[in-house]
Order: sequence, then C-alpha cells, then structure tokens
Amino acid sequence: MITKLRKTLCALSILSLITANPSLAVNEQDIINADKTPGVWLSHGRTYDEKRFSPLEQIHSDNVDDLGLTWQYATGNTRGMEATPIVADGVMYITTAWSRVAALDAKTGKSIWTFDPMVAGKKGRDACCDVVNRGLAIWGDTVFLGALDGRLIALNKHDGKVIWSQQTTDPKKPYTITGAPRVVKGKVIIGNGGAEFGVRGYFSAYHVLTGELAWRFYTVPTQLQEVNEGEHLSKARDSWSPQSLWNTGLGGTVWDSFAYDPSLNLLYVGVGNASQYNRKQRSPGGGDNLFVASILAVNPDTGKLVWHYQTTPAESWDYTATQHMILADINIMGQERKVLMQAPKNGFFYVIDRATGELISAKNYVPVNWASHIDVESGRPVETGIGDWSNTQRMISPAIIGGHNWHPMSYSDSTGLVYIPTIHTTYPYKPNSQYQYDPKGFNTGEDFAGLAASSPDIVPGFCSPTRLTAWDPVEQKQAWQVKFSRGVSAGILSTAGGLVFQGTTDGALHAYNDNDGDLLWSQNVNVGIMAPPISYAVDGEQYIAVLAGLGGSQGGHGDELENANSGHVFAFKLNGNLTPPNIASRDTLVKVQATALDEESYSRGRSLYAVHCLRCHGFAAKSSGLYPDLRHSEQGVHNIWKEIVIDGVFADKGMASFKDSLNSDDVNDIHGYVIQQAISSDALTHRLLKRVVSQVCIPAEWLAD
Ligand code: HEC
Repeated sequence: MITKLRKTLCALSILSLITANPSLAVNEQDIINADKTPGVWLSHGRTYDEKRFSPLEQIHSDNVDDLGLTWQYATGNTRGMEATPIVADGVMYITTAWSRVAALDAKTGKSIWTFDPMVAGKKGRDACCDVVNRGLAIWGDTVFLGALDGRLIALNKHDGKVIWSQQTTDPKKPYTITGAPRVVKGKVIIGNGGAEFGVRGYFSAYHVLTGELAWRFYTVPTQLQEVNEGEHLSKARDSWSPQSLWNTGLGGTVWDSFAYDPSLNLLYVGVGNASQYNRKQRSPGGGDNLFVASILAVNPDTGKLVWHYQTTPAESWDYTATQHMILADINIMGQERKVLMQAPKNGFFYVIDRATGELISAKNYVPVNWASHIDVESGRPVETGIGDWSNTQRMISPAIIGGHNWHPMSYSDSTGLVYIPTIHTTYPYKPNSQYQYDPKGFNTGEDFAGLAASSPDIVPGFCSPTRLTAWDPVEQKQAWQVKFSRGVSAGILSTAGGLVFQGTTDGALHAYNDNDGDLLWSQNVNVGIMAPPISYAVDGEQYIAVLAGLGGSQGGHGDELENANSGHVFAFKLNGNLTPPNIASRDTLVKVQATALDEESYSRGRSLYAVHCLRCHGFAAKSSGLYPDLRHSEQGVHNIWKEIVIDGVFADKGMASFKDSLNSDDVNDIHGYVIQQAISSDALTHRLLKRVVSQVCIPAEWLAD
C-alpha cells in the first residue's frame, strides 16, 4: 500500500519537475492542487491541510548520505528565526526577526529584493517571546506580511514594493503579530498575540486586492452586552462570571495556527490562553470561559462560527490551543474519517471530526498531571486537582511552554504518523494574591518576585528534556522517539523519500528514517535551528531549506549560546558541497568590579528584576546570550544604566524605556542586584543554578518509556 502510494507520488513529482511551473500568479486552486506540483511551497504548511509533508522523493533514505549544503544566505539578524519560507516560480520568500522580508533565488540563494517594515525598536517590549515572525502568504502577484506592530502589509512579489498596508490592531495596546497570514477565498486571514499583557483576542479577514476589512471575529466577550459582535459571543458570555477581570481583555489571542478545508468550506482557528492565567482571579465563580484555548471552525465567507471544541475549559495554565493543526483523512476502526489533529500545550493529542467538531479520541503525548484523561463522551478533561494553583504554589506538568509549542509538527502520507516536537516539563505556578491589572506590564497573575525570592524555584523548567516524538494518531500511541539532552525541539518536515527532517539547538540539520527514527544523516551549520525545514524543486533538483537562529519563547533563558546567533537560511541538495559559515564565538565575558549591596536593596532589586527584566534578560540575571547578559555588560553600559532603562537610549535596539513602570530608585536597586549577581556569578549563581536543576527537573519516573 505504502509502496504503491510512493510510486504514484513519484510519477506525479517527475511529471511536475519536467512540466513548467504553474501559472505565475498563485491562486487558491494552485494551493488546493499543490500535490500535483510538489516542487512548490505555496502556503504556510505547504497545503491548506498543513501536513508539512513534501511529496518529493528525489532525496530518499538510500541517497541522503549525499545530501550537502548548496547555498547559504546571511539575514543580518541576531534574534530568533521561526519562519517557514514560501517558494513559487523559483523564488523563495522569507521573513526574519523584526518582521523583515527577503526574496531569494531558490536555486542560488542570491537576494532579489528585501523589505524592512521599520518596526519601532521599543515595540520589542510588547513581544512576550522575542521579535520573531513565522512567515508570509502568497496570492496573485502579492505576498502578505503581518508585522510585529500589527500592520498587515501587501507587497509586490516581484520588487517588494508596498501595495497596501492596514493597521489591524490598536497601536496603543500591546498587540503584536508574529504569525503567518493565510489567504482563503480571496481574503487574507490574520490574528495577533499579546494575552500575557492583557488584550482581547480576535482574528480578521481583509480583501486581498484592496486591504479592506471583510469581517472580524472576537474570541472572547466584553462586559458590554449591548454591543453586538456576533451570536457566538452572546453564548460565550454565559461562560464568564459578571465579576470577570474585563479590563484585562481576557486574552484568547489567535497568534499562530489556521487550517482550511475547501470541500467543507471551513476555516479552522487555534485560540490561545486566557489573560490573566489564574481562573479564580480572572473569572471568580465563572464557567468554561469560552472561547479561550479552543479550536474554532468558521465559515470563511461570513466569519460565522460553525462549531467549536474547547481543549482546556477554564484554562488556567497558559495552555493555548494555538498549536499547529493538521487535517487528514484517516481510517479509524474501518471508517474513513475526515479529522483535525492537534497537540496543544495542555499535553493531550486530539483527533477530532473536522466536519462536526466531535471528539474521536485524545491521549496524553507527554507527562501530564493536571488532568487524568479526556472523557471522550463529554469531550472534557478530567482534572486531578493537582493543577489547581489558584491559592497556592503547585508543580504542574506540562509547564507554561507546553508539551508542544509553536514548532510545527508534520503528518506523513506514507507512514500515517504525526511527528511532534515535544517538551517534557514541569513548572512552579505561583499565584500573586495581590494581583492587579497593569496596563504596562505582564498580566499573568503569577508571583515572579516570590518565585525569585524562593531560590529553589528560580529556574523553572531549566532541565526540561525535549524530544522528537512519532505519534500514531489511530492507535493514539507513540511509535518511536528521539531524545535530546538539551535545547529546543525544532519544527519538522516529512517527505515521500521516507525522511523526517529536524534542526537542532547545537546547529545541525538531521534526517531520520520516518519508520523507526534512525538517524540517517546530519550536517553542522554552526547556527542553532528552531524553524521547520521545507522542501521544493527547481530545474529538476530537490532542495531542503531551513532558517537558522535561536530565540523565541525559550530564547532569553534557554541553554547558553556558544556562538553568535547569526541568522541564516541554509539550502541543501544531493552532492551540495558548500562549507558552512564560520560563526564567531560570543564575546568574552566582561568582569564587573563593585562592592556588595545591603540586603534590603538586593531583595528589592531582585523582585523588580524578576517582574520587569527576567523574561528577556534571563533568570537570576543569567542570559542565554540572545539578549545581553547584564552581568557582563561593558563598564560604559553601567555608566549610562539609567539612560538605558529610564530614558530609552537603546530603544532602537529593542530595549524600550521603562519610565512608565519604574522610578530612579527602582532602577538603582535593579542595577545593584545585577552587579551583585555579576560579582557572585562564578560562585553563588552557578551553585544556585545547579541546586535548582536538581529540584525542578521533571521526575525521572514520569519519563519512563
Ligand atoms: C522585551 C525584552 C526586554 C526586557 C523586558 C528588558 N530588556 Fe533590556 N534589553 C533588551 C534588548 C533587546 C537589548 C539590546 C540588545 C542589543 O544590544 O542588541 C537590551 C539591552 C539592555 C541593556 C544594555 C546591555 C548591554 O550590555 O548593552 C541594559 C542595561 C538593559 N537592557 C537593562 C534592562 C533592565 C534593567 C530591564 C528591566 C527593567 C530590561 N532591560 C528589560 C530587551 C529587554
């Protein structure tokens, strides 16, 4: 069966390699028919069903040994790279950190044009998880970009000139766009993020040609009952208590995943976490809090809700359902089912009937302690009680980063397996009983200052192992697994050549056998990889390409970067023989001379640092190197500390002013704390980190196979 399928796909791929490229202007039909032209990559997940499976098989398990680097392109960024390239007519379109765009010759990597939307550096403060961007959409002669500051920009794909630009968010609010737009039924669909800061989630559809708003869908209600924003919200309001923290916006942002089924005419939408996290504070006595942490099926013509499935009712752990969704037709108990599959942060793998929203099955794919299982009858999780951190600190699995985050998974048409980048982790959720909405700060309801003070827990999730997990969605069980001792488990590509490709934090690209996970090939590129690889063909040759550059949600406090984080695109083909770039190691660390602080200023500085600075500059002032490690800043930086933190003189570089949240005494105490960490970094901090590791690791018995 598999061999037959491979042969058919092989015939198709040869046909498309010798026939000319499809029409120059990409349209929806081209995306729907993408399997007939496997040399292109026209949509974020390659096809509307987001399988990230390439039918190309020139590169296969028997010749992958000959795969080698053929071109590289330096992006000029040093922040996180998460994008999936689009490839059409021999041109590759990419986005890089700070929402910058480049069009490259897909055969040589030569730059054709670049575009910089010039996002203000201070906007970086509104990004929970780095100034990343996950890619573009293409339609007609246009590529569409969602910029960090909320603009949706249509660019001429031939020269990168702006055709139209729309502000899709209120620029006064901390909304950001990091996700890739999709084009469906002549409309560009775009969401946004910002729930950690307190915003109200929505996604919108804009006409491709004019940029005019077609419809907007809010995922959570407001207090104002008289405003009619759709029937779905009148229903949703009943699932919130009247005392809900309406001024936090309630969250439910749509910051990443969409999928589309043209035959059912349904657009699938992944909805994010609630703002703030702690449900007892957020909606005291409230219900499920619809539609946070839900999968929505929406009619793309009207923007009306058809069905919804909430993965985590009354979400309280940052358990977004924004993770990648895959549509496939699979045989379950003798029946061909049209399913939607998702491995959201909450740790369960869901198989859902995508016509009706009915749950077919669900099983945990990583260790989970907040719920024992999902009751298939009601479709609801059965909570254990261990996850209730509303009044007291609890160690809960999965952690805030989830069992699986934005890193895309892949479904292979050949093996019927889903390849998931998984994270096996636990985290101390600590409630802030004094929580009050802060329009300029983080609004998760966690007590960061308290966590920093109780030293054993200051490096939560520090030793979380990551894995590449091959999952059988019919049997709901693991088929095989590859274990990593550290780092991020990057996005995935599977191919008809029997291969699964994934990058590593150490800066290599790996190819595994799709049946058993055997490592068949690996090449070092010297830049850490988080982004998902893609495959395409030009002039009869198959390529594998991937963006490199660490960062994102684990960026500031992940494993320490050994080399400078030099953003690149790398492309490989059979017999490619280019040498990877020589990346400079990070600058040698500067030692600070200073005297010790008094205890009171130290603990004040530590609390303020934990609340305002930790999320970028790292736990205990120890950074991975993505953001400056403040313990090792040059003396010159210490001399202008207040100018940097209060006056915002480094705003252009992404270090916004904190004048709205901190006064001069606060900044002095933070400075003192950082210096103290610097003095003791070799002794105290490292000793502390070691101790912490042994205390917050996920228990070994949970990781047993
Ligand atoms: C949203 C992320 C973010 C947050 C939060 C943040 N910073 Fe920064 N910070 C940056 C970035 C980005 C840079 C500049 C990186 C570069 O030079 O390219 C920076 C640079 C700095 C520098 C200059 C360091 C050097 O060696 O050049 C100082 C000092 C600094 N930050 C202090 C702070 C303090 C104090 C806080 C908390 C009050 C804070 N930052 C919060 C992102 C952040």
